Amino acid sequence: MNQNPPPAPRPAYQNPALPAEERVADLLARMTQAEKIGQLGQVAMFSFAERREEYLAGARAGQWGSRILAESAWAGNNPEPALDPAQLNEVQRAAVEESRLGIPLLYGRDVIYGHRTVLPIPHTYAASFNPDLVEQALGDVAAEAAADGVRWTFSPMVDLVRDPRWGRVIESCGEDPFLTSQMAVAAVRGFQGDDPAAPGRLLACAKHFAGYGGAEGGRDYDTTGWSENTLHNMILPPFAAAARAGVASMMAGFHDLGGTPSSASQDLIRGWLKDGLGWNGFVVSDWGSIYDLIGHGVAQDEREAARLGLAAGLDLEMTAGFYERNIGALLDAGTLPEAWLDDAVRRLLRAKFRAGLFDRPYTDPALARTLHCHPDHLARARELASQSVVLLKNQGGLLPLAPTLKKVAVLGPYAEARREHLGSWCLNGRPEEVTTVLDGLRAAAPGIAFTTANAAFSDALIDTARQAELTLLCVGESHLRNGENKSIAELALPPGQEELIAACGRLGLPLVVIDFSGRYLPSPAAEAHAQAIVHAGSLGTEAGAALARVLLGEVSPSGKLPMTIPRCTGQIPIYYNRKLPAKIAPTCATYRGYEDERLTPLYRFGFGLSYSTFRLANLGLSSGTMPPDGTVQFSATLTNTGPRRAAEVVQLYIRDSVASTTRPERELKGFQRIELGPGESARVSFSIAADQLRFYTANRRWELEPGEFRLALGTDSAAPFTHTLTVTGTPEHNAKT
Ligand code: BGC
Repeated sequence: MNQNPPPAPRPAYQNPALPAEERVADLLARMTQAEKIGQLGQVAMFSFAERREEYLAGARAGQWGSRILAESAWAGNNPEPALDPAQLNEVQRAAVEESRLGIPLLYGRDVIYGHRTVLPIPHTYAASFNPDLVEQALGDVAAEAAADGVRWTFSPMVDLVRDPRWGRVIESCGEDPFLTSQMAVAAVRGFQGDDPAAPGRLLACAKHFAGYGGAEGGRDYDTTGWSENTLHNMILPPFAAAARAGVASMMAGFHDLGGTPSSASQDLIRGWLKDGLGWNGFVVSDWGSIYDLIGHGVAQDEREAARLGLAAGLDLEMTAGFYERNIGALLDAGTLPEAWLDDAVRRLLRAKFRAGLFDRPYTDPALARTLHCHPDHLARARELASQSVVLLKNQGGLLPLAPTLKKVAVLGPYAEARREHLGSWCLNGRPEEVTTVLDGLRAAAPGIAFTTANAAFSDALIDTARQAELTLLCVGESHLRNGENKSIAELALPPGQEELIAACGRLGLPLVVIDFSGRYLPSPAAEAHAQAIVHAGSLGTEAGAALARVLLGEVSPSGKLPMTIPRCTGQIPIYYNRKLPAKIAPTCATYRGYEDERLTPLYRFGFGLSYSTFRLANLGLSSGTMPPDGTVQFSATLTNTGPRRAAEVVQLYIRDSVASTTRPERELKGFQRIELGPGESARVSFSIAADQLRFYTANRRWELEPGEFRLALGTDSAAPFTHTLTVTGTPEHNAKT
């Protein structure tokens, strides 16, 4: 009789009923050294069609742990082929069904702020001061990308930026650690949801750890030199917030910080992030940033670079193959402890279990059709875009456009632009699906004749403006002039646009300048000639439809600047949460500042106008003193005193009057976006707890120092300090690591 042997019992790591940590431990114990090292590598699989067999063989051999779904290191600005779920499933099948242990590959892609539906870029959506909406909209994006087979995104970027010449400012939420942290948490929740294993969710990645936004001179990849005080008080908090929110991964940057490339920083990665915070996610290098350790001059060769990377705590190497080729020899020579290899593999496997990859490794190729550009996604993208528009100037209430207007000219390089609205991290958005400004306006206000002319400066363009009652001049800098590896030396609109604005302005007819730059640029011509200035930014797929809502008054603008706008390049760095050293403090009458420019910015952080007006009154603090474990309420009544329904962002600022180190002039500690009808009021209340008052003190750790804190509530960063809160206790008792 033919007796089949009983089926081998299923290994514990394949049992979905067991806790992830148990599955990780079981799998790790079964792995050979080569299989472990394989997990530490990420491959791009360039030219897949030609090298298919080689890649399938690698997947079967467990040669890589992850694949980046990009065709170049600058995928955002280069045309990328569409994702092919069938091909992704084929490679995954080789890993899952044909490799010894069946460990799935983790597919990562730069789904930064959009997939087929493209949202505003982060620098633009930061102005919404609406993390809840950002979370929901990024949830839509996650669902669209997951439908294409993506399981991990290299987002959010949480770098703090003080120099807008840096092209990557457009990926950031600006200059403030609190706003950046709120948006980081929103993004992590949006991508990962409560459970990243659920269909439609992605693992997130906070980047670029840490301090990349300080590139000297605004030149990408340049050296950074944040002080320890600034690093801990300003740069690291958004990463800590992302870690607390459960972000699955972080990415180390390309740059060096104070002499140590961040991809080799044992102090920051293994020390601060992993041991210090107790965060159990994994760290990926940036594209070739371990290879770059040779270029930085801290590694002699690829073996040394690989050693520095793993020693620092970089768990996964993006693309260069240095780990693959060298970690085995380093371990055999005893140069690296096995425990570090195991720690890295454990972190990567944990993420794969968290993503549900072992239990649901494949993607349904039919899913994308039902989800891409789903009407709900587009509606949320439109809402977020509408809330991200910042009204900077509105003389005589020129906006919203009066319903009595008959003929309005829509001119300039952005009047009919499409691709430009998708920003510089656009891998899957389609220009033909973008609503142009002109189309958006025509659809929303059929009673007004919107005329246009070729975008190039010409007599015909000026003539079109002359024949209209009002001109909407759509200017800006495109995705070709910002983003990675694209910085500018002069913070100004691209050549010719200042002249275009001035030429339209000299006609003496009403002029609205709308700036679609991904960053906030000063425009002397707009200041001089336009009655109204709107910063639209990069608004995504729904650009034209969202902007039409704002221009026509269907919604009132409510965006607030996430970054200070300087008057000129020479003022950089200029940011609201600056230190006020003794000779610069307002009490010092002899301070002269610049001889050729004012000290104040053109527009301050947190600023943005509305079509309505608001009053903040009856400010009250529940108690003037607070013990170290206490909480106080700081409240005010917000009234919409204008004629329209509108939203206002109430902002809470504090100032630590006397401390063991110099402290910022003011710091944002809370904000609430509140929508009110005409004449309506609402009581707005902020809880202030000790945690919000802690900082990295002279003792080089986070502490609450007792003493006096000044408090301000307002609608931008000029809000006056009106109340004083005294924190009692002794510093020793309040220490927090
Ligand atoms: C960028 C990262 C990006 C990575 C993968 C790098 O050049 O710095 O932000 O996630 O490429 O595309």
